[in-house]
Parts: sequence; structure tokens; C-alpha cells
Amino acid sequence: MAIISSKKPSPQPDRPDNDILLASESKNSYKTKKSKSQTNQADVETLLAAQATATEKSNNQNEEKIRPQRLDEYIGQKDLKEVLNIGISAAKSRKESLDHLLLYGPPGLGKTTMSLILAAEMGVNCKITTAPAIEKPRDIVGLLVGLQAGDVLFIDEIHRLSKMTEEILYPAMEDFRLDITVGKGKTAKTRSIPLKRFTLVGATTRVGSLTSPLRDRFGIIQRLRFYEVDELSQIILRAAKLLNTAMTEDGAEEVARRSRGTPRIANRLLRRVRDYSEVKKLTPISGSVASEALELFNVDPLGLDWTDRNLLITIIENYNGGPAGLETMAAATGEDAQTIEEVYEPYLMQIGFMQRTPRGRVVTAAGWRHLGYTPPNEQLSLRL
Ligand code: ADE
Repeated sequence: MAIISSKKPSPQPDRPDNDILLASESKNSYKTKKSKSQTNQADVETLLAAQATATEKSNNQNEEKIRPQRLDEYIGQKDLKEVLNIGISAAKSRKESLDHLLLYGPPGLGKTTMSLILAAEMGVNCKITTAPAIEKPRDIVGLLVGLQAGDVLFIDEIHRLSKMTEEILYPAMEDFRLDITVGKGKTAKTRSIPLKRFTLVGATTRVGSLTSPLRDRFGIIQRLRFYEVDELSQIILRAAKLLNTAMTEDGAEEVARRSRGTPRIANRLLRRVRDYSEVKKLTPISGSVASEALELFNVDPLGLDWTDRNLLITIIENYNGGPAGLETMAAATGEDAQTIEEVYEPYLMQIGFMQRTPRGRVVTAAGWRHLGYTPPNEQLSLRL
């Protein structure tokens, strides 16, 4: 089970990153004797792995550097911020923990960031985990027992919790107690263990997949929406400043327009554009530099990448624009159905290029035109 804690433990010299504890880490400590060629190959692999880890680590460090720490640094999601501001002020003045919070919406919109901000605003720790990492009842029990008063426990992909874990969570969320059954059969007894008051922040891309007993135990349920271009521009300019990268407002807007309403994508594109401008010695990053760079990386002016275009083109060419069922689209494109549904479709629907109908997905006239095709109703009127 992986847990990331916002509270830094004391440094351990032999750990590369003491914030992230992975259960699998301890498994590779046993070494066998290797032949010379095996050793060389192993050395190369170790070197490559070390380089990959170094890149990942530097990306992570950059990500941490630009992640907003407090509510007033967080750009966008105005309604959500207002709701949370009120919740935080009320909880603080009553010296209580914040109500349990469920955040839902497409990936990359800032659910984890918001959870870390909540903990910072409340002056408590935030433990971060994801539902698939909670495999056994003892995993969730360990997490809950380890919480201090007021702490935030963030569970990503909360719709994927096992039934047993959910049942442990119900009394924990409601009455801050653990009900543990000791023994089996007729001699089994239930013991209650009190827990410190805590705030559960659940995050999901599929709010409809949550069971109603779990959903009903959240006091605040909020949706994160896609960001507007001007909000993303501000996020990009802020990040560029923190990364010491010179960028014009036009440059930020060009990246923002191609970021699919998503800060995670905006920051990723910013890094690509920054590499391009440094290597080509084209600074500051202007609108034209950003657009040249993003064309090179195959990100079109509306932020569609190869997979988005492939999905739309497949429906247009193979199914005359639809309707096409989700599984059919997955089989025809080789993409995973869940990824299509949770990652690609929400943005294609948001920009009005795709619609969900009871019979399947349909590409709209705007979608046809964006990809250089003439929509079927216009083909008809041309022929008449
Ligand atoms: N970085 C990622 N998301 C952000 C946001 N909403 N505000 C400021 N910086 C961000």
C-alpha cells in the first residue's frame, strides 16, 4: 500500500525519497551473485533506472514547486473555493474537524491539490492514498488508527474501495469509531475502538459508481469543472514564474487554449514548451514560440492529441459519425473503454465535438468540421 504524507518524517539516509513509502520497496534487498555480462547489463539497467528516477524526481520536485499551497493561491473553481472557505472558517471557529468531503470530476483538475490545501488551511496533516492500494482490512485500519486529531485522509479513486473496506469506513466516518469483530461463529464479539476525529476527502472520476451508503456519509459533495482559458493562462504564468521561465501573456494563452481545460495538462505542456524555447534559444516564450512547439508535439489548437482525433475519425469514417457504442469504439481504436469514458470523452463533450445518446456516441457537426470533414447534413444540401 502506498501512502504519501504531507508531514515530513525525519530523514533516513538510505531512502531516496522519504515522503513516499511503497510496500514493494523492501522486496529487492536480497541480492544473488551475477556473471560479468549480467553485471554489465544490470549496471546499464540500473543507470537507466536511476536516470528515469532522477527525471521523475525532478518532475515531481517541479510539480511540488508549482502546486498552490493555500486557498488564496489556488486559481479557478470559484464556487468550490467559496464552499470550502466557509467550511474551513466554521470548523476553525468551532474548533472542530472539517466535514467529510467528496470531490468528483475529470482527472487533473486539482482534487489532490485541494485536499493538501485543506489540510494546510486547517493546520493538520494530510495522508494520501488510493483505493486500489487498500487491499486488506488491516490497511484501512492502520491508516485510520494512525490519524491525529483533525487530520485529512485523502482517498483517490474512492469508487474502487472493496465492500469490506467500505463497511469499516461507515462507523469510522459517522461516529469516529472502528468496529472490530474478534473470534468466529457463536463466540464472535464486536469491539469498538475510538478514533480521533478526522476528515475523509474522497476523490472520484465516477461519482455515479459510489454506493449510496458511502456517498451519503459525505457532508460536502462538490464537482470540479474544467477551467476557462483565462484561468489556465493565470495558472501557466504563475508556474512559469516559479520555474524562472520568461513567458509573455500571449504565450501563456496559447498553451492554455491547448490544455483541455486541465491544469495538469497545462503544466505538462508548459514543460514541453519550456524545453523547446531553451533548446532553440527562443525566449521569452511568446504565442508563436508556444504554437510552434506544441505543433511539434502534435497538440492541435484546441488541445486535441492523436488519440482524440483517432476516436473522432474512427466514428466518422467507420460509423458515419455515429452512434457508436463505447465498447465498439474501444475495440475499433484499441483504447481502453474506461479511459475513453473518463479521460477523453468529457473534454470532447465539453467542447461540443461529441454527444452521448442512448444509442451510443455521436460526433457533432463541429467535430466533423474541426477534422476537415463535411458533416452529413451539409453534404446533402450541397448535392441538392
Ligand atoms: N497549479 C495547478 N492547479 C492550479 C490552480 N488551480 N491554481 C494555481 N496553480 C495551479
